Amino acid sequence: MSILTAENIGKSFRSSAGPIKVLHNINFSIEPGTLTILRGRSGSGKTTLMNILGLLDVPTEGKVFLNGQDLTSSGEDDRDEFRRTEIGFVFQSVALISRMSALENIDFSLRIASYDPDRRKSRTEECLHLVGLSGRMHHRPGELSGGERQRIAIARAIAHQPKILFADEPTSELDTHMSLHIVRLFKHLVAEKGTTVIMTTHDAGMLEIADKVLSIEDGEIRDGE
Ligand SMILES: Nc1ncnc2c1ncn2[C@@H]1O[C@H](COP(=O)(O)OP(=O)(O)OP(=O)(O)O)[C@@H](O)[C@H]1O
Ligand SMILES: [Mg+2]
Repeated sequence: MSILTAENIGKSFRSSAGPIKVLHNINFSIEPGTLTILRGRSGSGKTTLMNILGLLDVPTEGKVFLNGQDLTSSGEDDRDEFRRTEIGFVFQSVALISRMSALENIDFSLRIASYDPDRRKSRTEECLHLVGLSGRMHHRPGELSGGERQRIAIARAIAHQPKILFADEPTSELDTHMSLHIVRLFKHLVAEKGTTVIMTTHDAGMLEIADKVLSIEDGEIRDGE
């Protein structure tokens, strides 16, 4: 069974110039334990779509099925619960909590996912290690470089071992070497933990590592491969 199905998704926003339609008739399915890349020009609708698939926003039309469950029609509580426990999200804008250290940011996401309290500390340290930032655990976001912040955001998104990881341009601030390290980490999660990863990128060199490529153009999916 598909882990994620988008059925006729459409999204309009109200703007001062009237409504604008950003997504049209989006249909696709994703199999569990695969890595999908969503690509497209700036402004094509990638973040809008990721936010809808990751239950951060609601579509104007259509449905999102996660694990066979229609979560567009579910109540807010069910959506929140699913998002906190089963989904990891790396935001394009990073969005770490500025008063918390790197370590506290990761620990916080484990707390809200109801992760085993006895294992929180070791899991936090393990994730800092996975992104190569054990030496920065007590730094606050303002004391980290842009790429370091992005790596902490990745550590935070994977810490609670989500079934589905959405990563919106997770390597935009990283150099080639570190981008490759992160992509290998994602491939490892897919192969060893059966995680389903959906990421956006502008880096054409990454397409070859994907099991599936979805191309979005003016809010519509074009046949990728
Ligand atoms: N809240 C909003 N209100 C009005 N328009 C919006 C809103 N959010 C996004 N848009 C518009 O929708 C379009 C798609 O935006 P989106 O952020 O999904 O693009 P993207 O493909 O992620 O681009 P990028 O590669 O630059 O991150 C843009 O033209 C944007 O201006
Ligand atoms: Mg975007």
